[in-house]
Amino acid sequence: MSNDADAQILALIEQESEIVMEFQLRQQGRASMDFLVALTSAMGPLNARWSKELAEAGVDASSLPEDIDQRYAAISTALSKSKAFAASGLLMDFASVEHGRIARDAYEESRDLLEPELDKLENQGPANLHADLAFTQPDYHKDVWFHRTEGGWDGHPQQGFIHGELIHRHYVSKNFPGDIFVQRRRVLQELPRQDYRRILEMGTSSGHFTVALQQTFPQAQITGVDVSLPMLKQALRVANENGWNWDLHQRAAEDTGFADASFDLVASYIIFHEMPQQAIEGVFAEAWRVLEPGGQMLMSDVTPYAAMDRMAAWRADWMAANGGEPYWREAASMDWKAAAEAAGFIDVESRGIDGAPYPWIVTGTKPHG
Ligand SMILES: C[S@@+](CC[C@H](N)C(=O)[O-])C[C@H]1O[C@@H](n2cnc3c(N)ncnc32)[C@H](O)[C@@H]1O
Repeated sequence: MSNDADAQILALIEQESEIVMEFQLRQQGRASMDFLVALTSAMGPLNARWSKELAEAGVDASSLPEDIDQRYAAISTALSKSKAFAASGLLMDFASVEHGRIARDAYEESRDLLEPELDKLENQGPANLHADLAFTQPDYHKDVWFHRTEGGWDGHPQQGFIHGELIHRHYVSKNFPGDIFVQRRRVLQELPRQDYRRILEMGTSSGHFTVALQQTFPQAQITGVDVSLPMLKQALRVANENGWNWDLHQRAAEDTGFADASFDLVASYIIFHEMPQQAIEGVFAEAWRVLEPGGQMLMSDVTPYAAMDRMAAWRADWMAANGGEPYWREAASMDWKAAAEAAGFIDVESRGIDGAPYPWIVTGTKPHG
């Protein structure tokens, strides 16, 4: 693609309006969320300092062992006296353990202001949420405290608002490299068609990628599945607030229950790294089953370790382990292209975009006949 074409795509994506839910937090909650953002912004300089110390000790990507556990040993030996590394670890630990609690406290402090508005958005509008009282979560998801947040994705009845708005929009997005909302829209520009009519999103969560799908393919009917009801409730509110008729279901991505050939696009954004290998293989198989022949699949996630040097892969692994991501290593060590091809997809590509390793996409087509 030419530089001109690149520039045009990026200009289009930047033009799309950001969907922001209006709400008010009381002062203490606002201040503690701001504190968290400021505190974690100190990670950058600290990481730069211990990276320099590692280089001075002669430890770099080429000298690190192939085995990732041995890499941990080599790095902690080289940095055993580093104050920057120790402080970095402490900060990361604090933020990982506390961010969920801080955001929940912020919600609770302003609950009387927030709840009427959230309830209204749940009950008025064109979107539908099909909760399933008999639904059982997959074993690998049940009782896991993702992000080291108490109860994980289901730990609070309002976890969808707490994570989607307070944590993801007002905390994660502030220190994450790049614009996390532009990235969601950008990956969709890699699809070969613009005329999708029946889209299934796997792992809808609070609806951030669903918004990107809606903005990119406004003519399509969007169906979303997620195992977490509190997260889907927030997606429901986002859809209702904007007049979008999303059809949301509490179901697992690897077992959606939809009829064969029901969709012409199946897409997901950052769900693989929260699943073990077998579940990811199940997701590809299910995407293939519910797609019509000629339909496309696009799954976007973290950068596979094979596409990183040994130092970068170790850093991702270290941050994921500290951040409460128990399946990240398994997922990022998998060959997603091979898994998509094993499910039956053709023309499969697994790659970064815009010359960068993140966001990473896996795309493929269900063949005719
Ligand atoms: C990191 S969030 C996804 C974020 C969302 N797609 C976005 O772009 O913001 C991961 C979501 O995947 C959901 N999830 C995990 N395993 C799942 C599965 N097997 N089927 C459906 N959803 C799943 C979790 O409940 C959570 O809401």
